[in-house]
Amino acid sequence: MELDEVLRRRRMTRRFGPTPVTAETVERVLGSLAHLPSAGFAQGVDVVVCATAASRRRFWEAASEPAWRARPDAGGLLAAPLVVVPVADPAAYVTRYGEADKAASGLAGEPASAWPVPYWLVDAAFAVHALLLAATAEGLGALFFRLHAPADAVLDALGVPPGRTCVGAVALGHPSPTDRPSGSPTRRERRALHEVVHRDHW
Ligand SMILES: Cc1cc2nc3c(=O)[nH]c(=O)nc-3n(C[C@H](O)[C@H](O)[C@H](O)COP(=O)(O)O)c2cc1C
Repeated sequence: MELDEVLRRRRMTRRFGPTPVTAETVERVLGSLAHLPSAGFAQGVDVVVCATAASRRRFWEAASEPAWRARPDAGGLLAAPLVVVPVADPAAYVTRYGEADKAASGLAGEPASAWPVPYWLVDAAFAVHALLLAATAEGLGALFFRLHAPADAVLDALGVPPGRTCVGAVALGHPSPTDRPSGSPTRRERRALHEVVHRDHW
């Protein structure tokens, strides 16, 4: 699939079907994480891949409420055979920008709480988008969604070392045959490109 087609076809899938995703496909999707941009090349983003029934259950039990999981409309998302949780390490960026070649960055010695742009979250978002695009290129569906529980509790349940943070999670799998465009784009107009792009001046 050409890049422009991948970009155009990508949309969030919220209803996954039972077709298994082959191990080769999973590896190609995860391969999209092998060449990401990264502030200072700190590379402080990891992912936890929940691909077994047990690890997915562990994720969902930590990341959602029983009342939500019992809802009929939750089933389509709970059916996703893969959940990938990007995990960012603020300390890796603070340490990296404390190194000699970053002395003039204005970030050297700044605690994570003082960074005007938390680069670890930017890098995590890049990882999310790489996964979304790679999934689309493989003919899969994917959804980026927020955790419905404190990130610390979810990361702890997944065995992530303390101090890390998380922007949300990505569910991946084959779309259900009943999957349809859903969510806000069905209720809101997409802004036209000419409204978004300000050439030379706003
Ligand atoms: C930061 C962020 C948070 C989002 N959180 C959720 C979420 O919790 N649940 C959900 O179903 N979709 C979530 N979305 C998906 C958006 O609703 C979706 O990207 C937007 O409506 C455009 O639709 P499309 O991605 O299908 O083109 C999120 C997207 C972003 C970028």
